[in-house]
Amino acid sequence: MGIGEAFAREFARRGHNLVLVARSREILQALGEELQQKRGVKVEVCAENLCDTESPGRIYEFCRLKRVDVATLVNCAGISCAGDFAEIPQKKLEEIVMVNVMATARLTRMFLSDMVARKQGSIINIASLGGLQGVPGLGLYSATKSFVMTLSEALHEELKETGVKVIAVCPGFINTGFFKHSGHSAANLRLPISGTDVVVKAAIRGLRHNRIRIFPTLIDNILVFSQRLVTRSVVIRLAGYFAAVKD
Ligand SMILES: NC(=O)c1ccc[n+]([C@@H]2O[C@H](COP(=O)([O-])OP(=O)(O)OC[C@H]3O[C@@H](n4cnc5c(N)ncnc54)[C@H](OP(=O)(O)O)[C@@H]3O)[C@@H](O)[C@H]2O)c1
Repeated sequence: MGIGEAFAREFARRGHNLVLVARSREILQALGEELQQKRGVKVEVCAENLCDTESPGRIYEFCRLKRVDVATLVNCAGISCAGDFAEIPQKKLEEIVMVNVMATARLTRMFLSDMVARKQGSIINIASLGGLQGVPGLGLYSATKSFVMTLSEALHEELKETGVKVIAVCPGFINTGFFKHSGHSAANLRLPISGTDVVVKAAIRGLRHNRIRIFPTLIDNILVFSQRLVTRSVVIRLAGYFAAVKD
């Protein structure tokens, strides 16, 4: 769904074969069949729950058994829970860390070795503008996205002589089911909401130019730059104001 689906559609349009991963097998199968018919690409479906510690290993094994060499890994699945940190149910807290942090790190680590051995490959990690600072009302989520961003930065540099590219894409608000899934009213947001295509285009452009962090829209770039002009406490308060979790 959401941004991941938009990546799948664009890569299929460019003629790439796909391995689709999420929990909802039926949704993946329907998308896979559509893209196979429309674009003539081969699509494999691997239904997994990334909250499960063993799932990254199973996904890697799935690709090995299907003899798929993953050229581009897109770590896109991500979840959140809007509200005060103290009120996040313990189970939800663990799921957010498992999906956003552990699965991203494990999948990156697993597929990276093969890419380095082949001296080519790309890893697109979907972080968030929210990862640039703590966001009141989204504290845990913003912390997980800081993790994604800093891990990607380090790998970008570590791997620069290997032929493998790692980038962090940091979108602002994007029109997907993410807000509904997180209990965050999108109607309250105090910044424009963009379409998923903006993220995909920026990611592909960023990869081509070998950027480290990609901020898809002009507003995203203005917000990033303006962080240099105000104090940290203003940055954090503004992030909370824009996200408007409590309103
Ligand atoms: N939307 C935004 O405003 C926004 C802004 C900045 C960054 N992002 C980031 O962009 C990424 C994609 O978000 P989105 O907006 O596309 O959200 P979305 O519409 O809610 O889609 C999330 C996708 O992740 C999959 N997923 C969720 N939990 C999973 C699990 N436990 N195991 C496997 N797959 C799982 C979902 O499929 P199933 O439910 O079938 O598993 C779905 O395909 C996330 O990392 C998010 O943090 C989003």
